[in-house]
This record gives sequence, C-alpha cells and structure tokens, in this order.
Amino acid sequence: MLDKILSAQAPRTSDKAEGAEHDEMLFIIIHQVFELWFKQLLHEIDYAQVQLREHNVGQTLHVLKRMRSIVKVMVTQVDVIETMTPVGFNSFRDRLDSASGLQSSQFREVEFALGYKRPHILTMHDAGSEAYQKLTKRLNQPSLWDDFLVFIDKQGYDLQQAMTEQPVDGQIKSHPAILSALEKIYHSDPSLSALCESLIDLDEGMQEWRYRHVKMVQRTIGMKLGTGGSEGAKYLLETLNKPFFPDLWDVRVSL
Ligand code: HEM
Repeated sequence: MLDKILSAQAPRTSDKAEGAEHDEMLFIIIHQVFELWFKQLLHEIDYAQVQLREHNVGQTLHVLKRMRSIVKVMVTQVDVIETMTPVGFNSFRDRLDSASGLQSSQFREVEFALGYKRPHILTMHDAGSEAYQKLTKRLNQPSLWDDFLVFIDKQGYDLQQAMTEQPVDGQIKSHPAILSALEKIYHSDPSLSALCESLIDLDEGMQEWRYRHVKMVQRTIGMKLGTGGSEGAKYLLETLNKPFFPDLWDVRVSL
C-alpha cells in the first residue's frame, strides 16, 4: 500500500530533456498531503456527528480537539509551499493546464460537512463520478452544525423553529433563537459551552487556512488569474472572514 502512495507522484515536466523541474515534486507532494488531511478531517467529522447523535459530549470534544490539531498542521504546512519562489512555480505552471485547488472535491466535502453547502459545486464534477456521488451524499445529509443544533435542542433549548429556518443553500445564517440558546449556554452550561468553543476553534482554524493560502497565492502569482479559471487572489480574498458557524461569533457581543 505504501508503494502505491510513494509511486503516485508523476511530475508533468519529467518529459523535459533536462529532467523534471525541481519544484514540481514539492507542489505535487504538498497537494497530496493536504488531500490526506482532508480525508482524515472528513473521517473525524463523521465520527463527531455520530457522537453528537449519541449525546456523547466527551467523545465529541475529543474528536473536535483532534480536528483542530489537524487544521493547525494544515496551516503550518503552508510554510513549506511558501519556500517556492514565483520563478520556481513558473517553471512548471503552464503544465498544470486548468488543474486547480478549485477541483478538490474533498475540500468541498469538508465545506458541505461543516454546513457550507453550495449545490452548484456539483456541476464542477462529472455526474456519476465518485466525487459527484460523495458530494451529493454530503449535500443531502445533515451537517455537523445541523447535528449540533439537534443536540442542543434535545438538551432543552428550543431550536425547533430555528432548525426549520436554516438555509439549504450557501452559508449558514445567524438566527435569533440560536443566539439566545448560545447566550444561555455560555452563561450557565460549562459542558455545552466547551463544545461551542471547540466548534469555534475549528471554524477559526479553517479561516486561518484560507488566509494563509491566499497570502501564499499572492506571494507566488500576485494578482494573476488562477489556473482554475477564477480571478485568482481576487476571488480567494472574497472567501476570507466568512465563518462556517456565524452564530458562535455573533453571540460574543451579548456575553
Ligand atoms: C503555489 C501554490 C498554489 C497556488 C499558486 C494556488 C493558487 C490557487 C488559486 C489561484 C486558486 C483560485 C482558483 C483558481 O485556480 O482559479 C486556488 C484555489 C484553491 N486552492 Fe490553491 N494554490 C496553491 C496551492 C494549494 C495547495 C497546496 C492546496 C492544498 C490542497 C490548495 C488548495 C486550494 C483550494 C481548496 C482552493 C479552492 C478554494 C475556494 O474555492 O475556496 N492550493 N489556489
């Protein structure tokens, strides 16, 4: 199995007479490492949801802590790719064609699983492909946030109305009933407030990753267009400061 992983790096510049461009190997490996972490995150999110459904706060906290550690490693790993200069990247960028992080279906799965569901993302994948099937499944199943709300509701904080008003498309929107429940939790329920803090840790970590990624993009390609066809850094800058769980941020003003 390890052989399979270790032979999965095929630099596109290896056909050059002078040999493959040195930095392409790093570019391939760093993407593969991230994809493995995305896979692990999905595995942990699934587990956290099962634990929430079983009202097992201790195990949920444990797995959220692990997810936070993974995201911190992901953020730190940006340092490695930042050792690649713009010239190093340009030595093979034209060989990427339209390949881009935009196509990372696992990253979109993470977004869907946390609650940021955009159905149009499916159109980026061939209907019938494994990626399409997995994304469709995640789109139609409850997110981590949905399970968190169900759990909180069952703890005696009435969120029935709020749950029916959760958007089915796009970013989760703050809701007065959720804010009021969170306010009570923060003031009087240490166990549930620890859960809230673990979720905000994860949210903050993901936003940190987006920030580090866009800074890395800016120092590598400046304001050039992306290989995936977007406006590059301009597009990525618009994805910053958009929390997965806005209620957890908005409640702070009333605590
Ligand atoms: C030199 C290194 C990199 C450059 C220049 C770069 C550049 C870009 C650009 C320009 C975009 C916008 C979409 C487009 O291509 O048009 C993008 C999106 C993205 N990249 Fe990178 N990237 C790099 C490394 C990485 C790495 C190592 C990962 C890890 C998996 C990654 C993951 C992503 C993801 C997930 C998106 C989609 C973000 C979103 O839509 O919110 N990128 N990247």
